[in-house]
Amino acid sequence: MGYFTVSGLDMPVSGEVRISGAKNAALPELAAAVLCEGAALDNCPRLSDIETAAKILENAGFSFERAGGCVSVLPRENQNGCVPEELCGKMRSSILFLAPLLCRCGEAAVYMPGGCCLGARPVDLHIYVLETLGAKISADNCKITASAPNGLNGAEIDLPIPSVGATETAVMAAACASGESVIKNPAMEPEIEDLCRFLNSAGADTVFGREIKIRGKNGLLERAQHSVMPDRIEAGTYLAAAAITGGELYLKNAEQRHILPFIKILENMGCIIKSRSQSIYIDAPGCLYSPGLVETAPYPEFPTDLQPQLTALLAVKRGKCTVRENIFESRLGHIPQLRKMGADIEIHDERTFTVRGLDGPLKSESVRATDLRCGAALILAGLAAKNGNRVEGGEYILRGYEDICKKMSLIGIKIKYST
Ligand code: EPU
Repeated sequence: MGYFTVSGLDMPVSGEVRISGAKNAALPELAAAVLCEGAALDNCPRLSDIETAAKILENAGFSFERAGGCVSVLPRENQNGCVPEELCGKMRSSILFLAPLLCRCGEAAVYMPGGCCLGARPVDLHIYVLETLGAKISADNCKITASAPNGLNGAEIDLPIPSVGATETAVMAAACASGESVIKNPAMEPEIEDLCRFLNSAGADTVFGREIKIRGKNGLLERAQHSVMPDRIEAGTYLAAAAITGGELYLKNAEQRHILPFIKILENMGCIIKSRSQSIYIDAPGCLYSPGLVETAPYPEFPTDLQPQLTALLAVKRGKCTVRENIFESRLGHIPQLRKMGADIEIHDERTFTVRGLDGPLKSESVRATDLRCGAALILAGLAAKNGNRVEGGEYILRGYEDICKKMSLIGIKIKYST
């Protein structure tokens, strides 16, 4: 079990950070590589979740090779549609392999996915999607088996909620089905548009929009060649590091338009933010004012994956802010840890809390990450504590932040990972 030691800051962060390829785009794209004759994925981040995806691919009969940021996936002689239980337990995204393995092998089996604990995370919508496209599914509490020996058939898929993962399952499965599909009420996250681009590079015919329209290929796809979009949550986390320390940062390979609600909040709090193509500049004054009210919601609204980092920022700035988490049943793991560091946060119910900003530093403490973004928030909190902090559960953070110690060191943060 690893932990991070953050030394606290003598001065605000400053300098340049290159944002990595997005974990949440690279993972579905590696799953979609199963549908292709082969895939070359550029800008693919080095993260523990990507290593898990590589193991799933290798186990299913694909080679996975990396040269710098470029990853290549190729089918070997034989493929099998089973993902071992141990690998499913490691991450939620293992469920994304079910549809592609089903399309390639005619049958597939995965175990209930693990991943960050954010309350109940059912997979009923993934099952609904595959059944709607004609797959036969048998599922118990532990394992899901799918079969479609004669392939899938295009259909109208009407999602009751815009689930990111279920939309990705639908896009991948419909791309190889026979006939046309329409996904109604899809998730509109940029990572899904990126997945559509990946699939189209391999000859699929998907049109991303308020409804996603797919003309199925009735078979597997050609070779895919794609560059993974920048990680908007990593970009948001570094912007929060600048804001919390009153620093100045220039982010390369970052798209402001992907995190506009977060940018607007930082601006309203008092930061100056400028953007050019694929870069974001932030200059944060020491004194920032709370935005008053923030709610997470599906894209293009405020992303749940930046809620914990924003909470850490609110904890040390001026004013009161009520936050409501609308995506996950339980994503408040950072609150008790921030409180331990002296933050003034009142929990109203499982989804709502009020932060009263201290307008001053937090206490130095040893705290524990309970999920990836909770971990990011606790590192940010360490930057706002005079003598830093120690963040246990560091392996969560390694799931989503490439080279975090190296990148943070370059902008003046003293941080170390130890096992
Ligand atoms: N849901 C269902 N049934 C399903 C699927 C989802 O009820 O079959 C519910 C979930 O329980 C949740 C809500 O729908 O309450 C949203 O879940 P969604 O399917 O949209 O999320 P996901 O695909 O599991 C992805 C990201 C998450 C991110 C969410 C929301 C990846 C690999 N993961 O998860 O990222 O928080 O979308 O934007 O893309 C992270 O990076 O830290 C992370 C958790």
